[in-house]
Amino acid sequence: MNQDELKALVGRAALAHVPAGSIIGVGTGSTVNCFIDALATQPGLVRGAVSSSVKSTERLKAHGIPVLEAAEVESLPVYIDGADEIDHAGCMIKGGGAALTREKIVADLAQRFICIADESKLVATLGRFPLPVEVIPMAAAQLTRRFAAIGGQARLREGVTTDNGQLILDVSGLSITDPLALETEINQWPGVVTVGLFARHRAAACLLGTRDGVRTLTF
Ligand code: 5RP
Repeated sequence: MNQDELKALVGRAALAHVPAGSIIGVGTGSTVNCFIDALATQPGLVRGAVSSSVKSTERLKAHGIPVLEAAEVESLPVYIDGADEIDHAGCMIKGGGAALTREKIVADLAQRFICIADESKLVATLGRFPLPVEVIPMAAAQLTRRFAAIGGQARLREGVTTDNGQLILDVSGLSITDPLALETEINQWPGVVTVGLFARHRAAACLLGTRDGVRTLTF
């Protein structure tokens, strides 16, 4: 199976984690696209979805799945999303698709985060994938210096404006041995909208697509 087939496999496997008749949270990315397409094969399984991006909203609506605003729900039973990296504690790097802020907002509404990913995303230590950070443009230069001070090289993602009208810095060179501490630290830097470390909002489970089938990791 190639990577796309592994993504399709876990996209379909995630259906088993969707409570019938519920409103669920839906993430962003190519793996989530497979999940949305799988969801569309089960009309009426969900009452609706809260989406983490304009792209996912468009795909959900194209399939006739109702999309609700985050403000319309108080809680979601489950949030299903991909990751750029996930470690053995369920902490993740996210934001490769620039949707990290809305992803964290929807994840915060959910009782359980279920990560769907192909096996290439599982790592011992987070940080080989450059850490996405959504920032206010005015602060981009000083945040670049702050990252340099902790050993990170921040690069502005060229030509990208987020759904929230902000910029993305991609920070390489960080070996993230304590994701929760680093997330907490970066969250305090003025001008940071969201850091793409999901430690406070780590996954409860990961459906990992492997050549031997779906491996379920629980944390
Ligand atoms: C988007 C994300 C995605 O979940 C992450 O980039 C993984 O994407 P894909 O499923 O395409 O590999 O965080 O902001």
